[in-house]
Amino acid sequence: MDDWIDYYDSTHTIYASKHHRDLHFEVIARDIIGYISQSDATVLDYACGEALSAAKVADACDKLILAEPAPGVRGRLIARFAPNTKIRVRSLDDLRKMAEKSVDLAVMISVAQYMTPDEFDAALAVIRRLLKPSGRLVLGDILRPEVGMLRDVLALLRFAAGNGFLKDALIGLISTALSDYRQLRSRVGLQRYSEAKIVAKLAQAGFTASRAHFNMGYNPWRMTFVARHSF
Ligand SMILES: C[S@@+](CC[C@H](N)C(=O)[O-])C[C@H]1O[C@@H](n2cnc3c(N)ncnc32)[C@H](O)[C@@H]1O
Repeated sequence: MDDWIDYYDSTHTIYASKHHRDLHFEVIARDIIGYISQSDATVLDYACGEALSAAKVADACDKLILAEPAPGVRGRLIARFAPNTKIRVRSLDDLRKMAEKSVDLAVMISVAQYMTPDEFDAALAVIRRLLKPSGRLVLGDILRPEVGMLRDVLALLRFAAGNGFLKDALIGLISTALSDYRQLRSRVGLQRYSEAKIVAKLAQAGFTASRAHFNMGYNPWRMTFVARHSF
């Protein structure tokens, strides 16, 4: 396994059970919908993963573009959402060919940590080109330098305890610790950004950004940023 895209394309244990996976994507869909401000919006979910609740997001907007780099995941997205005329599945390369200024809301949730800083810059450039002048980019689940893995574990266990899958979460954590995840985490690592660093990075990419009061998803120790074109 070479990188995080391979990892997410494999049968990993990030979701402790079907119940956890379903709940995760329900929470993500709810939080994306919270950022949709008009029903005729075109929404881009950049590196969306399995996006199991994407139909709910599509119901709240006009068009939903699900972009995903992992080919196996993308194949499942295509099969799952083929009947939904509001949803389009794309590779990250496909996004470069899309019309500029065509997207009202772009979200990238729990992705920046897996990218090299150069990949992150390239993704920001692609998204900036696609966003309408009035559009917004929401970056969720940004890892901070001072917050370690223990808080990730705590956030998961709290989410699990509140939703009846604590035992599965504990088993899942052990499986993950014994899997390729641990090896990738020490070899490739995860990128972390302070609030100032991410705002500066976004400014360099042509965005004005500020931190949201609440992080998307269920990990309160991670951060969400809302960015607009700085012109
Ligand atoms: C934790 S999942 C997040 C999925 C979804 N956004 C969510 O919030 O549930 C990480 C996603 O990042 C993608 N990914 C991993 N490495 C990446 C990279 N270097 N560039 C772009 N996407 C990457 C994976 O394919 C996967 O879809």
